[in-house]
Amino acid sequence: MCGIFGYVGTESAGPIVYRGLETLEYRGYDSAGIALREDDADALSVAKRAGEVSALSVPDESASTCAIGHTRWSTHGPPTDANAHPHTDCADSVAVVHNGIVENHEELAEELADHTFTSETDTEVIPHLLEAAFDGNPSEEVIDENLNEESLGESASRADGGIATDGVSSRVATELRRGVESVTDRLEGSYAVAAVHTGADCIVATRQESPLVVGHGEDASYLASDVPALVEHTREVTYLEDGDVAVLQAGEITIYRDGAQVEPARSTIDWDADAAQKGGYEHYMRKEIHEQPTALRQTLGSRVDVNAGTASLDVDFPTGYLESLEEIQLLAMGTSYYAGQYAATLFESLAGVRATPVMASEYSYTGGRDPWRTLSVAVTQSGETADTLGALREAGAAGARTLGVTNTLGSSVTREADDALFIRAGPEIGVAATKTFASQVSTLALLAIAIGRERGDLSAAEAREHLEDLTGLPGAIQQVLDEEAQIRETAHEYADSDAFFFVGREYGHPVALEGALKLKEISYDHAEGFAAGELKHGPLALVTEETPVLAVLTEGSRPQETLNNVAEVQARGAPTIGVTSDDVAASSLTETFDVPDAGIFEPLVANVYFQLFAYHVANAKGRSIDKPRNLAKSVTVE
Ligand code: F6R
Repeated sequence: MCGIFGYVGTESAGPIVYRGLETLEYRGYDSAGIALREDDADALSVAKRAGEVSALSVPDESASTCAIGHTRWSTHGPPTDANAHPHTDCADSVAVVHNGIVENHEELAEELADHTFTSETDTEVIPHLLEAAFDGNPSEEVIDENLNEESLGESASRADGGIATDGVSSRVATELRRGVESVTDRLEGSYAVAAVHTGADCIVATRQESPLVVGHGEDASYLASDVPALVEHTREVTYLEDGDVAVLQAGEITIYRDGAQVEPARSTIDWDADAAQKGGYEHYMRKEIHEQPTALRQTLGSRVDVNAGTASLDVDFPTGYLESLEEIQLLAMGTSYYAGQYAATLFESLAGVRATPVMASEYSYTGGRDPWRTLSVAVTQSGETADTLGALREAGAAGARTLGVTNTLGSSVTREADDALFIRAGPEIGVAATKTFASQVSTLALLAIAIGRERGDLSAAEAREHLEDLTGLPGAIQQVLDEEAQIRETAHEYADSDAFFFVGREYGHPVALEGALKLKEISYDHAEGFAAGELKHGPLALVTEETPVLAVLTEGSRPQETLNNVAEVQARGAPTIGVTSDDVAASSLTETFDVPDAGIFEPLVANVYFQLFAYHVANAKGRSIDKPRNLAKSVTVE
């Protein structure tokens, strides 16, 4: 997830775009940049560098009234000055900012052998493809078309680009729009793209599964990844739809859909500034819970080929390594540890490899059997957790091959592990991890499927079934999110309980532990998770009429056996809240919530109910949800 901002109008564009990037910094903050377009200049002026927006210096004296900017959260290529956006063509005549992933960038780059690339990003193919499309000058066809339009008068010209400027600028704007249409047609993956060209005071932008909003001003037009950056300029916006191409000029925005001009559907924003900063949500945590469908689409992307039953990840293990692999260790803390626990069961059942989750802070005392045949996987959202890095170093020093699974490109884990795998969830600001849990488990599921196929432990038909379930997750989670009002009501009903217990089996067990962690860290209530079978071995003594028990009763969590344990707490008068799937008969529960069919990933969907439950209990108590007491997002001490 990255932030895009664009401005074209009558005022100096640099400071306006800079301010827009500051507002969007929550979407990514490892590098930033701006491209300014000035009349009569042969090249665009580009300022970009690694670091936060505040590290960027934009020339105040620039006469530019048209600029695009970007704040980055790296997915391809670490955060360096060269990898920062905007990216340009060889002549610096086209600049592009991009949010998302161009999955087929390597294949596209092969066509551009005579172009000099200066970064390691997937994005850089876009300006070079645009340059190739332009081939130096606007095409004869476009010149002819525009000349005809000019001879027909301004209204005809506007009908093909909203271009009300002089002839050359008009031609370049049309050419840029056509270039963006033809180049983005060839991109695989998700993207929001904005481009400027030396020859026209306009911005051309388009999107596919990545947000992009345009803002309508009096004498100016704006573009942003998210509404918060627009509200200080205008409250009249149009949300672009997938495939829409917008041409922004000062005070005029034209939108094309399937090549034909369409009327922009305007909405009026009535959020206050604070709510706007969080995309209309009161807290980042709730925003991030709701971002899970989008995050998962990014995580899975074109890594999945359901028909072929294959998952491809950018990790190259040495030849023969996977066949001789005897153990996978998942080293992690907190939520990442529970994701590792979920994944350990996936590795055992899908890849046929013994797998052990290890609390990273305990690794020195317990880890490291046969390290030369062990893959030690550090699972860490931030990539900076000291306990996890310590375990990773120890495993590597003992001879294990190491892999970092992280959300943060360029983080310590990516530098220290032999290989890195990115979960692509986008930045997570709320201290309580939410969307990254789903993306961690899904990424590790893809790895389990890839290893299972490679070792011959998983048939193509089995892989297909799991991949179908995985690709159905964004839709299944969206259905749960749509039930938020009901879970909120239940959360409010039980908010004053003495304690909360969460139970589950198999894949439902790590989700029960994660559900309890989420609730305790943001509500400060006593919450504990157990393997459902463990209740009768002690915890049952704590159960009363004042202790709700939340149970995972979906596929993948042994619902019938768990229901037997739920009956034990019901007999002690505890209210029971169950997350079930279709075929589970759980009519005796106090409350039930359903999850759509998602095979062994149903507990992952159930987890979204637990996140919302925790959020609404904590919110009812007025807790500091995004910054709970005593906790930090990244724990860099052991
Ligand atoms: C819980 C939470 C923490 C982290 C843990 C590991 O909501 O956020 O438990 O999961 O500190 O952090 P990472 O994943 O950055 O290594």
